Amino acid sequence: MPNRDPKKPRVLSGMRSTGKLHLGNFVGALDNWVKLQDSYECFFFVADWHALTTDYADTSSIKQNSMEVLLDWLAAGLDPERCTMFIQSHLPQHAELHLLLSMITPLGWLERVPTYKEQRENIKEKDLGTYGFLGYPVLQSADILIYKADYVPVGEDQVPHVELTREIARRFNMFYAGKRHYVFPEPQPLLTPTPKLPGTDGRKMSKSYGNTLMLTDPEPVIREKLRTMVTDPARVRRTDRGNPDVCPVGDLHKIFSDPATLAKVDAGCRTAGIGCIECKSWAANALVSVLNPMQERRRKYEENPKLAWDVIEAGGAKARKICDATMSEVRQAMGLTRNYEPLPNTVGAE
Ligand code: TRP
Ligand code: SF4
Repeated sequence: MPNRDPKKPRVLSGMRSTGKLHLGNFVGALDNWVKLQDSYECFFFVADWHALTTDYADTSSIKQNSMEVLLDWLAAGLDPERCTMFIQSHLPQHAELHLLLSMITPLGWLERVPTYKEQRENIKEKDLGTYGFLGYPVLQSADILIYKADYVPVGEDQVPHVELTREIARRFNMFYAGKRHYVFPEPQPLLTPTPKLPGTDGRKMSKSYGNTLMLTDPEPVIREKLRTMVTDPARVRRTDRGNPDVCPVGDLHKIFSDPATLAKVDAGCRTAGIGCIECKSWAANALVSVLNPMQERRRKYEENPKLAWDVIEAGGAKARKICDATMSEVRQAMGLTRNYEPLPNTVGAE
């Protein structure tokens, strides 16, 4: 096994290649990843195969989408000097482990995963009655177990997938572990604290609702989106009092504004001392000051895409060493080693 730093537990997480990221992706995951980089040995990868489980019919933008995700990661401050970034499909070892794990995963476990039922009911425009889609969490288990990750930072919705990973690890160890040696440690979810961040229409921020604030939105776009963002519906006229706790703009302030601005918003909104237009311009200021440095970092890589590709190549090479070591162990445990052994001589045996 390549050496592990005994003081730094290993963290692994992935994001599907959905293209450019929005503020919800940042607040819900990426911002947290950036903070984990120094206290953990971190591996972050773009899950392009997982994107295929729903978007298999048209793969024309998959590679571009992976690259966009990576660029936003670098923009947000994931630092190739401090974490390992790679693209899932560059490590076919994940697929080998996925296949082997699929042999021991009971169908019932997969049918019971909450995201499976939900997505099949909610996504009607695609046929998700595929083998690959049902196996989504097994592939995710392989992603996690192949690095023997200690922690998996995820949102609430992904916790059942980490639980399933633990069960699969246990089952693998039960079947194939030697007396004193087990292959897979059981990973723990590292729940990401997720402050509430609604989209511009007040619903959950999502590309499919068209209500996103993108990490790549230039200042005028951010200001325009904020200008038309919904507010506390009870505050119709300038003279109406409002409540920032039920206002999506209020939610933005809570995440991005400094305490002084936050106090001005709270008092001003509740007494009708400020107008929504003014309040929104302050929210836009706060957002722009977060996004500007990101967009500057992103530009460096956009102007020289080879730099971003180098990050992926170097990350992939590092990941590959670990994958290969784990897969030798797995093959060994399952009796699938590739070294030459003479067959037992059975010719003429009684
Ligand atoms: N399923 C995760 C998501 O949709 C992405 C993912 C794939 C992942 N493999 C993973 C997350 C391994 C954590 C660990 O967000
Ligand atoms: Fe929302 Fe600000 Fe208007 Fe209050 S003043 S309703 S917080 S936009």
